[in-house]
Amino acid sequence: MNLAELNKIARAMTAPGKGLLAADESSGTIKKRFDAISVESTEDNRRDYREMLFRSREAMSSYISGVILYDETIWQNAKDGTPLVRLIEEAGAIPGIKVDEGTQALPNCPGELVTAGLDKLAERLAQYYARGARFAKWRAVIDIGAGIPSMTAISVNAHALARYAALCQAAQIVPIVEPEVLMDGDHDIDRCVEVTQRVLNKTFQELRVQRVALEGMILKPNMAVSGKKSKTQAGVAEVAEKTVRMLKNCVPASVPGIAFLSGGQSDEDATAHLDAMNRIGSLPWPLTFSYGRALQAAPQKAWSGKANNVPAGQQAFTHRAHMNSLASKGEWTTDQEQKAL
Ligand code: 13P
Repeated sequence: MNLAELNKIARAMTAPGKGLLAADESSGTIKKRFDAISVESTEDNRRDYREMLFRSREAMSSYISGVILYDETIWQNAKDGTPLVRLIEEAGAIPGIKVDEGTQALPNCPGELVTAGLDKLAERLAQYYARGARFAKWRAVIDIGAGIPSMTAISVNAHALARYAALCQAAQIVPIVEPEVLMDGDHDIDRCVEVTQRVLNKTFQELRVQRVALEGMILKPNMAVSGKKSKTQAGVAEVAEKTVRMLKNCVPASVPGIAFLSGGQSDEDATAHLDAMNRIGSLPWPLTFSYGRALQAAPQKAWSGKANNVPAGQQAFTHRAHMNSLASKGEWTTDQEQKAL
């Protein structure tokens, strides 16, 4: 393992004013997104949609440091035959790959999940590296509800995250470690903080046990937010203050960068929260975005599967990427949010 090189890539992924585009929806998830805009989820439509994003030159070269791809996409070519991976590289961004194989029911823990995909992972990582991937992603999912999460679910998911991260580094690929605590429940923000801290602490314990070099990874956490069904919704300042405090308690300063998931927050909330955290300042790591829905909902709607709408889709994507770039520097304003529309 060349740790200096891994660290260089991790720092480039969270470079000032840049963040990650999570375009790694599985075939099932992208079908759901396409259903919402009445587009059939064919291989060509998925290609055309992602090609539109990757050919958004301004967004890809100024605001996006890297793209997380799904297995199908990393092997796909653009309409003119250029590999999609090349389009990303030509724009100056880094290609990455989701390597987990989704979640399965966790035995003996009703309602809880464990992420699969460790079998043959070393071989798959070597193939992805040869294709150009320089970082990877593995998402663990922890739900909050009555009597959950169990310590069992936290423990097995942290163990799998660390197994994945160690295998990535051995393959000279930067692991994005993503332990996502879902915001689907009716819990308040303090319960989210309590669970997320347990999850982060266990994850870093496993990373240490398995000798993962923290300088050669990126953390992709959820923010501290109220559950979607909670009657009390924490405001922007509270989310920012509690998220920063939670991360300072749990994440070693040697981690080169933190890139948040959006997790079902509205586009503007995801931007406002990131901005407010960066305005607090004096943080040991750069805080940026690795958004899926919060970067793609607007371009998906603007595109709606029509070739004529590609410029509108690219404009919508560029606007969201620009707003989140500003937020990653604590320079976003509602004025700019509206002006550019
Ligand atoms: P969201 O921003 O839509 O949560 O997606 C990010 C991601 O990569 C989830 O694994």
